[in-house]
Parts: sequence; C-alpha cells; structure tokens
Amino acid sequence: MSNQTSTLHSGTKKTSVLITGCSKGFGLMFARRLAQEGHRVYATARNLQEATELLKIADELNNLQLLQLDVMNLSEIENILKTINEREDGTLDVLINNAGYGLMGAVADLDLEALEKQFKTNLFAPIQLCRTFLPLLQNAQAGGLIINISSVASYLGLPSFGAYSASKVALNALSMSLATENAAKGLSVAVVEPGPFSTNFRDSVKQVGTETNYSKVRSKLFVTQEDPSKVVNLISNLIQKKLAGKLGTYNELPVGRNTGLFRVLCRWLPQALFVNFMAKAINKEC
Ligand SMILES: NC(=O)c1ccc[n+]([C@@H]2O[C@H](COP(=O)([O-])OP(=O)(O)OC[C@H]3O[C@@H](n4cnc5c(N)ncnc54)[C@H](OP(=O)(O)O)[C@@H]3O)[C@@H](O)[C@H]2O)c1
Repeated sequence: MSNQTSTLHSGTKKTSVLITGCSKGFGLMFARRLAQEGHRVYATARNLQEATELLKIADELNNLQLLQLDVMNLSEIENILKTINEREDGTLDVLINNAGYGLMGAVADLDLEALEKQFKTNLFAPIQLCRTFLPLLQNAQAGGLIINISSVASYLGLPSFGAYSASKVALNALSMSLATENAAKGLSVAVVEPGPFSTNFRDSVKQVGTETNYSKVRSKLFVTQEDPSKVVNLISNLIQKKLAGKLGTYNELPVGRNTGLFRVLCRWLPQALFVNFMAKAINKEC
C-alpha cells in the first residue's frame, strides 16, 4: 500500500468517494449524506443539467463535486479517472456502483437489445468501473472499499424480473471473485441487497411485452416500499466500519423488511419450492 495522503482511517483527513447514478433515488441520498459527513464526494450523473436536486445540494456543499457520467460511456469513465487521479493524488477510498434500472418482462418477451442494455448498465458498467478504479483503490491507505448495489432480486427469481435478477446475481458472483482476488491488498467489497424502497425505481422501470397477472403477484409480495434512509444509514456505517478497520473482505448485506429471512430461506431451501409456490400464486390470478 502507498503512503498517499488520502486515507480512510484518520480523523483529520477526509475520505474520497465516487458514486454513480446520483441524479435521484439512492445515489442522490448517498451523495448528500456522505458529503454532509465530510467526505469528498464525486457525484456523477448522466444528464447533469437535468439533475436539479443534485445541482442544488452541490451549491450548498463544497466537498460535493459533480461529474458527467453515463456508466455505459467508456470515454466518460476515462475522463473521471483522469480527474480523480489528479485531484486525489492517485488514490480513491470508496467506489459506490449504484446506477441501475429494472427491465421487466416475461422471458419470452425479452428481446436481445433490451437484455443487452440491462446487462450493460447493471453489470458490465460496474465491473468496468471496478477495473478502472482498482489501481487507485489499492493506493488507499486502508485498502479501499467497493460497494456494489445489488438487490433482493438477486436471489428471488420473480416472474418478469428475470433480466433484472440475472444482472444482479451476476454482479454478486463477480463481486465475490473480485473480493477474493484483492483480499491480500486490503480491498473490501460489499454487496448491498435492498428490498423495495421508495425511490424513483418503479418509475424508471423499462417494460417489455405486456404485464398481466405477474404484476399482481409481485405487488402482493411487495406491498410497501420502505424509507430509503435505512439504506443510506447502512452505506454510511459501512464506510465508518472501514475507517475503524473493522470491515472484512466480503460483505453481503440484505437490507429491508424480511430480506435477511428470504436470504437464508433461499440459500437453504430447494429452489423448486419457491418456483412451485410462485407458479401456484400466478395460476390463482389467471
Ligand atoms: N429502490 C429499490 O427498491 C431498489 C431495490 C433494490 C435495488 N435497487 C438498486 O438501487 C440502485 C439505484 O436505484 P434507485 O432505487 O435509486 O432508482 P432510481 O431512483 O430510478 O435511480 C436510478 C439512478 O440510476 C441512474 N442511471 C440509470 N442508468 C444510468 C446510466 N446508464 N448512467 C448513469 N446513470 C444511470 C439514473 O439516472 P437518470 O436520472 O439519468 O435516469 C438514476 O440516477 C439500482 O442499481 C437499483 O437496481 C433499488
């Protein structure tokens, strides 16, 4: 590890954090909270001019810097690397891969173009960002922290969630490999798996085909959407744990009502039980 000045574990020095998808939802809330806590936040959005709320908080918090980033745009990723490399003296403490959306539709309706865009945004882009920023993260005095925002959907194969679930379960798998490969260099990887929270996620959904009885079953399962500040607190605590040297190499964190229970059940019960249960529930709605 280098003797760079930027550090996660000192009381006087500030932590540098890069976050994707900050125009709204979780990303906006992470950016606001972490900047309020004194971290140097690089908040990115693909349409900065339209991110009015983000522009407003950047006016109020001078440790919140805005950068243009469509996560699918390689040259924009390179620009961000250059900027952070210069401003942070070759170091980055925390990368939060947050940008993403849900592609919904039955497998039979999933055209390749829609599927490819889902995977590019939710999977390929976060992996590209991990690859790009690994050298800077490895220079962080405490070894660096990558937080990948996954989902409860990564272990629940819900009808019409197939593409979204597949992108998130693959993100989990790659995160595990990444953690193992970089453990010796002190890197921590966290996979955060929220249940349904009230962000703009539902409005951002891209639908293919027509939804029928699937959506009824889904909305019965996820009646309420929780307060997103629960996820924001979790992210803030994760960084504090890293600061205190108490965060392990790999951290899988279901967050939201019943998500921990679902996680355990899905891991230990035969998946056929869950699929049969869902199939019966859908048949009832027909
Ligand atoms: N809310 C939930 O219930 C929930 C549950 C589990 C997991 N998650 C995950 O949480 C993350 C954040 O979602 P959210 O709930 O905050 O939803 P949201 O309110 O819709 O916000 C999504 C953010 O991602 C950005 N984004 C999408 N594609 C992008 C791209 N190509 N480049 C840059 N930014 C892009 C959006 O930017 P634009 O404004 O430009 O579209 C927006 O800032 C996602 O990864 C999602 O899968 C959410």
